[in-house]
Amino acid sequence: MNELKALDRQYIANTYARSDVLFTHGKGSLLYDDAGKEYIDMGSGIAVNTFGIGDEAWENAVTVQAKQLQHISNLYYTSPQIRLAELLCEKSGMKKVFFGNSGAEANECAIKAARKYSNNKYTPAAGRNGIVTLKNSFHGRTLTTLSATGQEAFHQHFFPFTEGFVFAEPDDIPGMKALVESRRVCAIMIELIQGEGGIHTLSKEYVAALAQMAQEKDILLIVDEVQTGNGRTGSLYAYMEYGITPDIITTAKGLGGGLPIGACLFGEKTQHVLDAGSHGSTFGGNPVCCAGALSILERLDEDLLAEVQNKSDYIIRKLTSCKKVQSISGMGLMLGIACEKDSKALAAACLSRGVVALTAKNKLRLLPALNIPMPVLQKAVRIIKEEIEK
Ligand SMILES: Cc1ncc(COP(=O)(O)O)c(C=O)c1O
Repeated sequence: MNELKALDRQYIANTYARSDVLFTHGKGSLLYDDAGKEYIDMGSGIAVNTFGIGDEAWENAVTVQAKQLQHISNLYYTSPQIRLAELLCEKSGMKKVFFGNSGAEANECAIKAARKYSNNKYTPAAGRNGIVTLKNSFHGRTLTTLSATGQEAFHQHFFPFTEGFVFAEPDDIPGMKALVESRRVCAIMIELIQGEGGIHTLSKEYVAALAQMAQEKDILLIVDEVQTGNGRTGSLYAYMEYGITPDIITTAKGLGGGLPIGACLFGEKTQHVLDAGSHGSTFGGNPVCCAGALSILERLDEDLLAEVQNKSDYIIRKLTSCKKVQSISGMGLMLGIACEKDSKALAAACLSRGVVALTAKNKLRLLPALNIPMPVLQKAVRIIKEEIEK
């Protein structure tokens, strides 16, 4: 461990503040470090390992595909990519999919498509290319998705940034109205639950108002479901809880179940915007990643989603009974717990007790595998509660 830490310091760019643990393997929702210590995984690699570690159906799908054809250029057809797009569209009601490799890339694609939609339909001279995102949002680490991210801390160091983004206060309907009326806007881009921003859930009233505003003005509604998607919130996609139909949905993380994939889903209005040569990716829709993602998406059915909701209710019930818990936000198995303790110190204390939990701003963030076994979840919640009460 010490040797690896020294090598990490020497050779890995200094972008991560790592916790002092070296994970070597796992099974389901259990992780093990190099000393053999067991941990309960309440983070699933930041909402990635949808069915935990060593999930057999996923492993099988991935290895079978890896043995058949690990990669081929997007200049040719491959079955896993097409089947995955078909299933995504069937399950979401969207019409077409572009595959990339990450959440940021899915959002880049959405931003490009939104601007092209407006450019195709309105004269370019109209300059109708503004995109409104929300304060406190997080949309990725590329220069354009950083520009889209509504947090001042991300708008440092890397000038010049992509132009054309403005930020609205979440849940402020008149504020959004004023912005879209005063500027030439082609899209509104939102996370329904701001993840990195501290598990802040947008109100249904606000989201319905945005959807209506967008429709009236032919402004595209882009919903970033990179973190909320793929069963995480107890619905297949969080927008389904809001009764809206986005024009573009982006997703990644849990879709791949552990391999990198991002998807940008286009609805009725936007399905024909991108044409040959207007976008592309070498690895996007890679057959191994798509085969794994298919095995995940196929199993996100009503029973599984009901299980997510039951586990969510359990966590909320147990932790709200704790006097030191100030609030619990989020939906399904994407929950943020605010308490008197500093979130980073609390996560560190949980880690030393064998529970891997995340933070989001001042909250402890829980994103366990959707199939975490109930006894394992109970043990993790008990430890978290003890640490909050200490
Ligand atoms: C809502 C949201 N959008 C985009 C991203 C960026 O995804 P990626 O890290 O896969 O590029 C994240 C990552 O945390 C996210 O939570």
